[in-house]
Amino acid sequence: MTTIHIQDDRSARSDAEALEFVCKRLQLDIIQEILDGGSSARVWLAANAAGERFAVKTVLALDGVVDGHDLDSFRQKVVQIEAIRAKAPSLGGHYLPVLHNIEGRNWACQTTPFYPSQDQVAPLRLPDGETTFFAQYEAYAQVMFLRGYGATSAVAPPDYVERVVVGRFLRRLPMLTRALPEDLAAETLVVNGRPCLAPGVLLPRLLEQAAPRLAAMGPARLGFCAHGDANTRNILIGEGTDFRVIDPRGSTDSWDPIYDLAKTLFCLTVWDPALRLGFAIQRSGSATLPQYEVGFRQPLYLGYRTAIQRFLPFIADQPWLIPLLANDPGWRARLLLTHDMHVLAEAPCRLSDRKPKWGCDGAPSSPEQLALGFYLMGTLLINELAEQLAEPGDLDDERHLSLMV
Ligand SMILES: Nc1ncnc2c1ncn2[C@@H]1O[C@H](COP(=O)(O)OP(=O)(O)O)[C@@H](O)[C@H]1O
Ligand SMILES: [Mg+2]
Repeated sequence: MTTIHIQDDRSARSDAEALEFVCKRLQLDIIQEILDGGSSARVWLAANAAGERFAVKTVLALDGVVDGHDLDSFRQKVVQIEAIRAKAPSLGGHYLPVLHNIEGRNWACQTTPFYPSQDQVAPLRLPDGETTFFAQYEAYAQVMFLRGYGATSAVAPPDYVERVVVGRFLRRLPMLTRALPEDLAAETLVVNGRPCLAPGVLLPRLLEQAAPRLAAMGPARLGFCAHGDANTRNILIGEGTDFRVIDPRGSTDSWDPIYDLAKTLFCLTVWDPALRLGFAIQRSGSATLPQYEVGFRQPLYLGYRTAIQRFLPFIADQPWLIPLLANDPGWRARLLLTHDMHVLAEAPCRLSDRKPKWGCDGAPSSPEQLALGFYLMGTLLINELAEQLAEPGDLDDERHLSLMV
């Protein structure tokens, strides 16, 4: 299915105005806004006169939006999907086609056919949903990893872990620091009773002091950029194990499959529970040694806990992953580090998502509170990881992830 490209010379003062331009032009009626997304985009369910349903997504050029959430990345998503269809057709067939790509002056809009579905971790919110989750995950992962990431391969840069895995957060940190409570400018803090170094202090030290261990974690090769933001709400599960994929990163650079595997784990440990349940955060201590207690407003779903514990042993011996891990002895350690960096890097992302959000108690979750929660949980995780990296031997993933369950 080919995308229809439309140029629109107008500027929009808001997402609502961009949406109005689009609806008039495509003769669509809005049914409701969809609030499940996690970016600065706005997404609506719409229908045409024939009753066909579409998802309509608009993005406005905004200042201070993190990389990956900006208008340029949005425009590149269509380019990435076209590349996937050409080079990894079995995965390409699972991507929902972009029907219209409309380029405004300071905005853009893409429409996709609406696919009735659930998010990837929905079974885990029901009793005994683990078997269903892992069966669906296997069906998805065969296509995403073996057929998608495995489609091409390129030599990885030697400084991959430093520049990409850790550097992404350090580059976003100034934007985040401005929105965090003032006491978090301190070098040290206590999170859930554990003394921690602030990530802005710990990470540069880690890059220096644990350089050989970080280098040993690095991949020899990168794969095809099959997604790049495979969170559990970008994988839409239909009937049985059928699925569709939406909302890739907006990049055609070679990419590490471990990045997206770590995304699934991150969605189970923090991302999805934080957006669904909300954070409960308490603050005490002094200006020089702030103390925080952070958790969710309700205990983590039992199914998520089980899946967190089973996830790494499960993927480790899957035939869809083994071929991608040849000459990659550091993949498991890199997955844990990437996971922790996803938690930290989500904090600035929360600031650019201005959609209303509520916790399980009905009370609002403000962008600033969500950012703080991700920052604190990420701080806790990265400090534990740094502690393990200072010890000889392999990282103990069970010990690391027990912080989250
Ligand atoms: N075509 C579609 N069919 C069904 N649901 C969709 C579709 N497009 C988007 N959604 C829903 O809207 C959410 C947000 O859309 P997405 O494009 O991922 O935006 P964001 O950039 O905010 O993550 C998705 O997680 C999914 O729940
Ligand atoms: Mg999305």
